[in-house]
Amino acid sequence: MNTTKIAPSLLAADFGNLQKDVEMVNNSAADWHHIDVMDGVFVPNISYGMPVIKAIAEHATKPLDVHLMIVDPDRYIKHFAELGANILSVHYEACTHLHRTIQAIKKEGMKAGVALNPHTSVQLLENIINDIDVVCLMSVNPGFGGQSFIENTYSKTKALKDLILKKKAKTLIEIDGGVTALNAQALVGAGANILVAGSFVFKSENPTQTIYDLKKIAG
Ligand code: DX5
Ligand code: ZN
Repeated sequence: MNTTKIAPSLLAADFGNLQKDVEMVNNSAADWHHIDVMDGVFVPNISYGMPVIKAIAEHATKPLDVHLMIVDPDRYIKHFAELGANILSVHYEACTHLHRTIQAIKKEGMKAGVALNPHTSVQLLENIINDIDVVCLMSVNPGFGGQSFIENTYSKTKALKDLILKKKAKTLIEIDGGVTALNAQALVGAGANILVAGSFVFKSENPTQTIYDLKKIAG
């Protein structure tokens, strides 16, 4: 059964031809459009903001998986709902009142995601896992595409899967950063449900084929 979702990260797309790349994802085996928002404060890089996301949303036909790498994300929950985000992920490290933030995301009709930096233990989610729709495990330090995969992510994925089973939660596990055809299968074996891939897809010769291959490998 083919259940693993593939979410190409538009951070690695050709920004001069964004519509073309969004349409490529529309017409591919991908499941979600992954959209990385960086504020230059939470992470040492600035990606793109509301006007660009609006343009993406106008052309995208698949769910918008918005990954906020910003401080104080509560300020913008409503804005992202209005832009058409379907899944909105905030960073654990950026939220003082994570429970409140998650409730606010759900209140706006979106799925609530929580992203963890590589050093953040999955055990910190023990008391909130049942409220979270998606946990995004960062397998690189957030801020840039094209970095190499951190190997500790396998054991972290397994530990998160154990926690989800122990708590009888329905949370999905997303892996973000350095995903390629070489680690996809092992990640799914460890418990991953969604694989984000930026450079591996967009820097390849035939992105549509790469997405198809990744989906097939992931199973
Ligand atoms: C990193 C972003 C990722 C990034 C993944 O901060 O959250 O989504 O675009 O890019 P690759 O697949 O190139 O590591
Ligand atoms: Zn991301």
